Amino acid sequence: MAALAPLGSPVDVDVRGLTEAEAHDVRQRLQPRRPTDASQAFPRTRVFALSSGKGGVGKSSLSVNLAIILAQRGHRVAVLDADVYGFSVPRMIGIGRKPTIVDNLVVPPRAHGVAVVSVALFADEETPVIWRGPMLHKMLSQFVVDVHWDEPDLLIVDMPPGTGDVALTLRELVPATEVVVVTTPQPAAQKVAQRAAYMARKLDVQVTGVVENMSWFTGNDGVRYELFGAGGGELLAQQLDVPLLGQVPLVPALREGSDRGTPIAVTEPESEATRAIASVAEALLTTRRARMSLPILQGPAQEVT
Ligand SMILES: Nc1ncnc2c1ncn2[C@@H]1O[C@H](COP(=O)(O)OP(=O)(O)OP(=O)(O)O)[C@@H](O)[C@H]1O
Ligand SMILES: [Mg+2]
Repeated sequence: MAALAPLGSPVDVDVRGLTEAEAHDVRQRLQPRRPTDASQAFPRTRVFALSSGKGGVGKSSLSVNLAIILAQRGHRVAVLDADVYGFSVPRMIGIGRKPTIVDNLVVPPRAHGVAVVSVALFADEETPVIWRGPMLHKMLSQFVVDVHWDEPDLLIVDMPPGTGDVALTLRELVPATEVVVVTTPQPAAQKVAQRAAYMARKLDVQVTGVVENMSWFTGNDGVRYELFGAGGGELLAQQLDVPLLGQVPLVPALREGSDRGTPIAVTEPESEATRAIASVAEALLTTRRARMSLPILQGPAQEVT
């Protein structure tokens, strides 16, 4: 793949799509802002990593639609697609173009008001990507320091399924990351989701809440069918002693929108799923970051608003 160049090495200035005057303007604005670490890239950003113990529970779909809804509400929002093996965010949100690179800084493409950074923007979808531990770390750290994040209010991180290297690396790179655990309603799934939460706790990362996805399907008869059982999200939230931020129903148009790159939050703002995700967004904003982890704070845990 056309990987990002190693840290500190020269990268071609790619200002395609910009006029000379615009490129000059971008350069002027970018130059003083190159971050050296996450505390500079995200000085006042709340970073939510959507995580799960297993795959296919809806992390990516929720990341995309949640981000769009938050942007629609006037927040500055970015999405980091940290699923470096199974990246899907650009396709789901409908971004096909490559990012612009200006003076070694990647200017992320935007869709529906959301800035998106993903390996997919540097690779083609058919080529499988194999990352060894150190390369993975290097690439994710480049995503932090070599991207013009423009100080978002909120960064949604779409995590790969399960617990692993990416979670460890993210914890190290962005210590202020908070985990939002996504689960499906059946009790067995909730046990698996617990693993992601335990891993977060072990890494001293705050778990901020639980979202239950695919909670029910509303038939044409208006009846809610609980296809995957019930109660898993509530149970997990109780066990973790965090809020259940919401339940999102199974809505075929959500999947179709993701497949087409036309997210349901844009095409069907009144859909049952969109309204449910909007209420997750609102619930998320009422939570607080209780503390930052040590590398940034260098002191005892305390309340940060
Ligand atoms: N609430 C929903 N209603 C209908 N379809 C959904 C819903 N949530 C997710 N899906 C669909 O389920 C599939 C899996 O969702 P998604 O890719 O978001 O999960 P994921 O947790 O990110 O998976 P992975 O772990 O493989 O990255 C997708 O086809 C998506 O469109
Ligand atoms: Mg995914």
